[in-house]
Amino acid sequence: MPADQLRRTRIQDLLKSTDLNREVLVKAWVRTRRGNKYVQFIALNDGSCLATLQVVAAAEGFPEESLKEITTGSCIAVRGQLVASQGKGQAVEIQATEITVLGTADETYPLQKKGNDQKGISLEHLREIAHLRPRTNTFGAVLRIRHALAFAIHQYFNDHGFYYVHTPIITGSDAEGAGQMFRVTTLPPEHPPRTADGAVDYAEDFFGKQTNLTVSGQLEGELAAMALGSVYTFGPTFRAENSNTARHLAEFWMIEPEVAFNDLTDNMDLAEDFLQSLVRYALAHCAEDLQFLNDTYDKELLERLNFVTTNEFQRLTYTEAVEILKSAKKKFEFPVDWGTDLQSEHERYLVEKHFKKPVILTNYPKEIKAFYMKLDDDGRTVRAMDVLFPGIGEIIGGSQREEDLVKLQTRMAEMHVPEDELWWYLDTRRFGTAPHAGFGLGFERLVLFVTGMTNIRDVIPFPRFPKNAEF
Ligand code: 4AD
Ligand code: MG
Repeated sequence: MPADQLRRTRIQDLLKSTDLNREVLVKAWVRTRRGNKYVQFIALNDGSCLATLQVVAAAEGFPEESLKEITTGSCIAVRGQLVASQGKGQAVEIQATEITVLGTADETYPLQKKGNDQKGISLEHLREIAHLRPRTNTFGAVLRIRHALAFAIHQYFNDHGFYYVHTPIITGSDAEGAGQMFRVTTLPPEHPPRTADGAVDYAEDFFGKQTNLTVSGQLEGELAAMALGSVYTFGPTFRAENSNTARHLAEFWMIEPEVAFNDLTDNMDLAEDFLQSLVRYALAHCAEDLQFLNDTYDKELLERLNFVTTNEFQRLTYTEAVEILKSAKKKFEFPVDWGTDLQSEHERYLVEKHFKKPVILTNYPKEIKAFYMKLDDDGRTVRAMDVLFPGIGEIIGGSQREEDLVKLQTRMAEMHVPEDELWWYLDTRRFGTAPHAGFGLGFERLVLFVTGMTNIRDVIPFPRFPKNAEF
């Protein structure tokens, strides 16, 4: 091939290559350059994998002086021979014949430390340079794993006969009831139009009514399930709750399957098989990145991931869980009694101390769950399920839905959910209603679990949380 037609090869492919002693072209960012007056070694990373490719630049072709601009963070194109490596640590390397600097990076480039992962710079500091942190080993690994999980989710559902539906991001309803939504408006904040009694006149707003960013695609997902049978959503969701924790984001991605004719047991079976399949996919396809995170941050990561794929989840009712918590020796910050919502300290006690495996809690008191959950025969609890994971707490929340129109209307009245805003949702129960169930998986909580990172802000490229939307 004429030299000028040589195409770039990704480093991932070069490192696997057995076709040696040929001319190749790489384009990548410089991690380090070291050496002496006879030879210089440049470590290159192009993001296609964790590992770097070593470029050897001999002094005859490249006097040290000519490599001045090849500094940590700069971007270069290298043409050369792909050869078996003489040195330790890599099977192949490139003997450079031509090096072009595409972009320089001077000494103000913030990621100067070798390998530029947490050994040089803390995760907290990296959050302040979120625009550059994808260039670190850690965030490269996290982002590749995040991609693999997103891909595996679509593949799982496609293989199981589910259809992907796109539910709206701007909505006129609040699926989970009350508060914590971000308003969407084009009204001027200083001088909004007002009605005769002085209230802001949303009839004048863009959509002619109050609208918000969605907190969940579930209600629209249910409509689709009543037509397509098995569906799922996978999209961004928004919650304005002021939770400044390592488990909450104001903007996060949620996966919500919804299945006609499924009951609570089917729903649990689906959630368990789904989660185990996703973790298995990551173990099979992200081995290098997982090994790096295991060695760097969390020596038990791989063991934990393998454990989850090979052990059944513990299933028990909320009522049984409360009994266990009440007789526990541990002193909780928040007391537990039947009827109170469980705090993450309770969830984590059940998972990490008591059962030492993932737990699915079911049949919660109706007062602490959403209006759409199917009422149990006792009239006190609903067919809810929360899946609790080690180190994470709640990773999935879901339920069998109330398919009976009158029972659903009664629950809405009790919980002050206005019927006139949800007439379209109630139509599913008016026309050809059917038992059905679904759940929501928080994507970042899944990525948190699989990567072993401890702060949810480190598993999404640009985290949104209170007082933070810089990038
Ligand atoms: O339990 P949640 O609120 O359930 C729903 O939204 C239902 N509509 C789901 C359904 O049945 N279709 O949220 C589901 C999951 C939680 O278990 C958690 O993993 C994640 O979404 N989640 C968050 N993740 C990050 N930041 C937040 N602020 C989150 N709130 C919920
Ligand atoms: Mg929940």
